[in-house]
Amino acid sequence: MMEKCKFIQVNSPEQGADQFYHLIKEELENDRLHVLGLATGSTMIPVYKKLTESALDFSNVTTFNLDEYVGLPASSPNSYAYFMKDNLFNKKTFKETNIPDGMASDLDTECARYEAALQNAKLDIQLLGVGENGHIAFNEPGTPADSATHVATLTESTLGVNSQYFENDEKIPETALTMGIASILSAKKLVLLAFGEKKRPALMKVLEGKVDKDWTITYLLQHDDVTIITDLDLK
Ligand code: GLP
Repeated sequence: MMEKCKFIQVNSPEQGADQFYHLIKEELENDRLHVLGLATGSTMIPVYKKLTESALDFSNVTTFNLDEYVGLPASSPNSYAYFMKDNLFNKKTFKETNIPDGMASDLDTECARYEAALQNAKLDIQLLGVGENGHIAFNEPGTPADSATHVATLTESTLGVNSQYFENDEKIPETALTMGIASILSAKKLVLLAFGEKKRPALMKVLEGKVDKDWTITYLLQHDDVTIITDLDLK
């Protein structure tokens, strides 16, 4: 199974962003990129910087983000909607952008709506980061393989790590809407970026080559087109 994941080692996050840029450019040039799944987190900052500074044309590309906190309005600098506007959507034109609505009055209905839109659109590429506990999107340890978009309860580990980035004394929400494992694996191509020592345990789990539901990154082993871009020497 392991050989299905292609690892690309780079020297820096900026070089990793360059790799992603070249991959996206080729897909666009070959008319293979119409629906792009996007991610948030500090890992994505150099990626979006590279894309916004490039001449790439996304005006025919529809995007779907992985996740959003419950209860944060798009005006909150801590929301993923705000992050995406600030880092990408205010600087590049897309055909359409989608983020789950964490302010929806009925969250289960919103999850079902989002999942249906996603399945209807069909993701060509899904960009991913990884949490220190191996989560992808907000699929925390124990999330089943057949999960669709759902309301996730964040673990103490994730609350601790992610709250460091929270501004204005806003409290980090304990729940989020997230694409599920099945939603993510439905993309034709998956590209995960992981930089820094804190991500080593998660990547080592992938290298072990066994699916472990307590490290949801290992579900990527069930997909046959995965590229992992990292600055870690995993040998
Ligand atoms: C959050 C997001 C994940 C992301 C992770 C890593 O938990 N829900 O999608 O991969 O953060 O963040 P960072 O890139 O800041 O390490």
